[in-house]
Amino acid sequence: MIDMSAILVIFGGTGDLTHRKLMPALYNMLLDGIVPEHFRVVSIGRRDKTVDEYRNEIRASIDRYSRNKVDENIWSKLCGMISYYRFDFRDFEGYPKLKAYLDNLDKEADTKGNRIYYMAVAPEYFETIVHGLHIAGMARQEGSWSRLVIEKPFGKDLKTARHLNQKLLEVFDEKSIYRIDHYLGKEMIQNIMVLRFTNSIFESIWNNKFIDNIQISLTEKLGVGTRGNYYENSGAMRDMVQSHIMQILSLVAMEPPVNLKTDSIRTEKLKVLEAIEDITPEFLRENVVFGQYGRGFIDGVPVVGYREEANIPKDSNTETFVALKLHINNFRWAGTPFYIRTGKRLGTYGAEIVIQFKDLPNILYFSDGHIQEPNLLVIRIQPNVGVFFQFNTKDFTSHHGIVPTKMDTSYENPSQGNTPEAYERLIYDILRGDSTLFSRWDEVEASWTIADRIIKYREQGNVKFPNYDAGSMGPVRSFELLARDGRKWWNI
Ligand SMILES: NC(=O)c1ccc[n+]([C@@H]2O[C@H](COP(=O)([O-])OP(=O)(O)OC[C@H]3O[C@@H](n4cnc5c(N)ncnc54)[C@H](OP(=O)(O)O)[C@@H]3O)[C@@H](O)[C@H]2O)c1
Repeated sequence: MIDMSAILVIFGGTGDLTHRKLMPALYNMLLDGIVPEHFRVVSIGRRDKTVDEYRNEIRASIDRYSRNKVDENIWSKLCGMISYYRFDFRDFEGYPKLKAYLDNLDKEADTKGNRIYYMAVAPEYFETIVHGLHIAGMARQEGSWSRLVIEKPFGKDLKTARHLNQKLLEVFDEKSIYRIDHYLGKEMIQNIMVLRFTNSIFESIWNNKFIDNIQISLTEKLGVGTRGNYYENSGAMRDMVQSHIMQILSLVAMEPPVNLKTDSIRTEKLKVLEAIEDITPEFLRENVVFGQYGRGFIDGVPVVGYREEANIPKDSNTETFVALKLHINNFRWAGTPFYIRTGKRLGTYGAEIVIQFKDLPNILYFSDGHIQEPNLLVIRIQPNVGVFFQFNTKDFTSHHGIVPTKMDTSYENPSQGNTPEAYERLIYDILRGDSTLFSRWDEVEASWTIADRIIKYREQGNVKFPNYDAGSMGPVRSFELLARDGRKWWNI
């Protein structure tokens, strides 16, 4: 039996992530009966407030953000588990006091000395807090486990990621470090492996002999909003490509693992990243497109351009859009391109993987000028989770027409679409000690190696920004990237 008894210590307990994601996730976990009996949450912040004030604020956030309506009994149970601990984590003298507080709580709640330290704080503090935990002897305790949860971004580039990792490893071992990529907690991302490895119809044709190209699109209607300071130092490459997109790409393209153990899966994912070839400036000149949004309309409402947003310099060169063509140079994928695009202030909001199968020869039904629509398999991650398949059938309304027919399993019924939020699954896995849905260091290192080359190339070039209107689907060059290959982006 896995012992999940623990104290979850949230550094950043008054922050946005805790209010919008972590606490609603804990509430829903409790509702689903997957919170251990012996469990406590200690939220750390600097602000002066009583535990009752803190609990009331959390209650308001759960009311607002939980996917399920609040049940008073469940809330009162969760409420009793939460405490607020005021502490400036730059003050190293405070850590032994925090330790004493937690040890005391162990006795009261029978949480067995087990700890989850959740870094819901700005990344520049990760090292400071880990150091504080180390000097107070809080990272490794005899007879109990301690896990460290690191939010993204994990470093700003390969060099800073390596440095951070080194610092973490001086205190925690690799298997106790949980690097969050919340996309991996999404149901449909987990479904990629299930679809591939439980359906003979898919796995037998999942290769360059049958697949023409694969597209991964993560599109947002939102602009940077209040996150200008963060985004200006990040851009689409760091915010989306280095983390979420590389993870999705590895899951779509990986070989079947020898078993479903964490390391077997992560090893196959890593091999995909290692097989990506040609990230040279010459290759990138032809195969990457950067964009930044100007003014435009989202759903008919006028919006400002990126350079007019709060906390953004008027001459910012940060990219809010990236489109990229990649080759995975292995036996399965050589010759089948992967197209990736992500951006803010686009005309649609969604995350989709489109697998376009190869055309049949233009004979028989396609010999007399009939346009052949390709078979498409679409894995929709958000907003509606589901799988969509397009195939050709006879058009029953005419004598000889062929029409693409769509089979769509998307959950339009809200009760079916009410799938657990990513953070519910991730926190549950941390409690269970299962790190399959978290990034291993060598995966992070490999994706930074790729992202670094692309970011460096962008920093040397001078694309004229802004180059797409808010509400469009990105710069014209993004369409040309595929048109040149005789292909197009699919907007399903
Ligand atoms: N928000 C999201 O949806 C989201 C999504 C993905 C990843 N993340 C990542 O999650 C992390 C947290 O983001 P956030 O948006 O929640 O940030 P945030 O709203 O700015 O919250 C920061 C938290 O850190 C605390 N804090 C800052 N300095 C402190 C100090 N010296 N001592 C004690 N507490 C201190 C703040 O406490 P006081 O307010 O009491 O000072 C607050 O609770 C970041 O790494 C971010 O990149 C966030």
